[in-house]
Amino acid sequence: MSERIFIGVAWPYANGPLHLGHIAGAYLPADIFARYHRIKGNEVLMVSGSDQHGTPITITAEQEGRTPEEAAAHYHRQFLDCWERLGISFDLFTSTGTSNHAQVAHDIFLTLLDKGYIHQGSMSLLHCPQCQRSLPDRYVEGTCPYCGYQRARGDQCDECGKPVNSTDLIEPRCRICGTPPQVRDSEHFFLRLGAFRDGLLAWVKEQTHWRQNVLNFSLSLLEEGLRDRAITRDMEWGVSVPLPGWERKRLYVWFEAVIGYLSASKEWARSLGDEERWRRFWQEGARSYYFIGKDNIPFHTIVWPAMLMGYGGLLLPYDVPANEFLTLEGRQLSTSRNWAVWLPDYLERYDPDPLRYVLSVNMPQTGDADFSRREFFRRNNDELVATYGNLVHRVLAFTHRSFDGRVPTPGQLDGPSQALLDKAQRALDDVDQRLYRCQFREAIKSAFSLAQEVNRYLDDKAPWKAIKQDREASATALYVALSAISCLRTMLYPFLPFSSQRLHGMLGFEGDVGADGWRFHPPSPGQGLPPPQVLFAKLEEGPVAEETERLGCVRLPGP
Ligand code: MF3
Ligand code: ZN
Repeated sequence: MSERIFIGVAWPYANGPLHLGHIAGAYLPADIFARYHRIKGNEVLMVSGSDQHGTPITITAEQEGRTPEEAAAHYHRQFLDCWERLGISFDLFTSTGTSNHAQVAHDIFLTLLDKGYIHQGSMSLLHCPQCQRSLPDRYVEGTCPYCGYQRARGDQCDECGKPVNSTDLIEPRCRICGTPPQVRDSEHFFLRLGAFRDGLLAWVKEQTHWRQNVLNFSLSLLEEGLRDRAITRDMEWGVSVPLPGWERKRLYVWFEAVIGYLSASKEWARSLGDEERWRRFWQEGARSYYFIGKDNIPFHTIVWPAMLMGYGGLLLPYDVPANEFLTLEGRQLSTSRNWAVWLPDYLERYDPDPLRYVLSVNMPQTGDADFSRREFFRRNNDELVATYGNLVHRVLAFTHRSFDGRVPTPGQLDGPSQALLDKAQRALDDVDQRLYRCQFREAIKSAFSLAQEVNRYLDDKAPWKAIKQDREASATALYVALSAISCLRTMLYPFLPFSSQRLHGMLGFEGDVGADGWRFHPPSPGQGLPPPQVLFAKLEEGPVAEETERLGCVRLPGP
């Protein structure tokens, strides 16, 4: 029976280009998961959008000398272009700037208010006497009240990952001028998170299929107890507060951004001319997965589920397979220090699949993972090209030359040949189960062990030599190898969609590889094979300085 799978992916702030940390953390695993479920014949809805609000955007706009609208629109277009080129297959990638999103956010706000889950109160806010402005959370820095980290921001501590209230920071200072801010009182709305604590704790405890780090982190936050959180801000950029007298305030970016999962689902349904279709993914019978980086965990395992519980009638997350961080050459990525490989730069120079391969095989699932220039070239050349690309090429090129451009007809299969076909079927099942559980790096490694098996089989059978004495033996070995390669095309499709599509054509299949289904589908004897092309190119590692620039990373050190 076909399953219904909702996939929500973290909404990137539209204030700068995407880098490999974003991709490894959320977008690539989400896309692999979506493609896997689609090729299995399941019903998938994968959505996200640009997070256009909050101080990250106003700060950038100020720096770039444009309006927040202009800055957000610029990066939104860039994101769409990147998804296209990297093959991130959203059903809808929208933004939090739409009127639909505002409407849905208003509905949730008013419903929670009506049910008593939102209350009004006064909040102490920080004001900088030097800059003469009120300071949004991200404009304040100080010592984390939980872990003592000295450069915690007023919304979150990057060291211990906990959400912080800016007024709880110890020795706070204005990030613009360094002056200690003053406290002023202002009226705001608060989400009564405390009211959901027991319900959330009971719910999280049942989620034994969650990744350990996600489960433990969420449990420890809940065990400490939850504080109510202010969900409005003194700002002019953002989603309005749907009540008279609140014209100069906006909904807090985190409160409204998570609502994007729902509003995007509604927008998607409307765009299909089937208004109510979003319900298929938000009510009984569906499972929802949220792909995010670890810094977003509390908002997806606590805040958003609390809002959903309060609102009522909508599915809570089934899984939140948050990834850890990607480091670059052993150091934390940093946008402000320009220590990153920017996706638009990468895509300008290289194909998408090598990056998808390297990030999949080294995905930061259970701990941080490092990306380095050397490893990128090594894995491309020694694994992707040597193990998979060359295998495909030598089999296809030889078959094409020696068997008249057609899939040869096999004779009787001997033991090793049958064993290889059995291994292919087992690998397909293994990759299936691992992808089902979001074990991406294990899944792609399993597929590559099959590729190694096929290489060994060919080394033994040497059909290029056998053809001189025993044409049928050569035909059989090539047929078996082509069958296993056809199986690799399917199991690698979620990871390497562009090359799987090309291989699909080179094996003589027509149409879309994703429509061929998740099955061991060997080509038929006699099936025509077009002249093969190279699947993956070897990449030459150029001089350090040049590669440094190529990878878009300005300060990449030498080897
Ligand atoms: N914009 C946030 C970030 O980049 C993520 C928002 S995820 C959402 O950290 F669900 F809240 F939208
Ligand atoms: Zn901290």
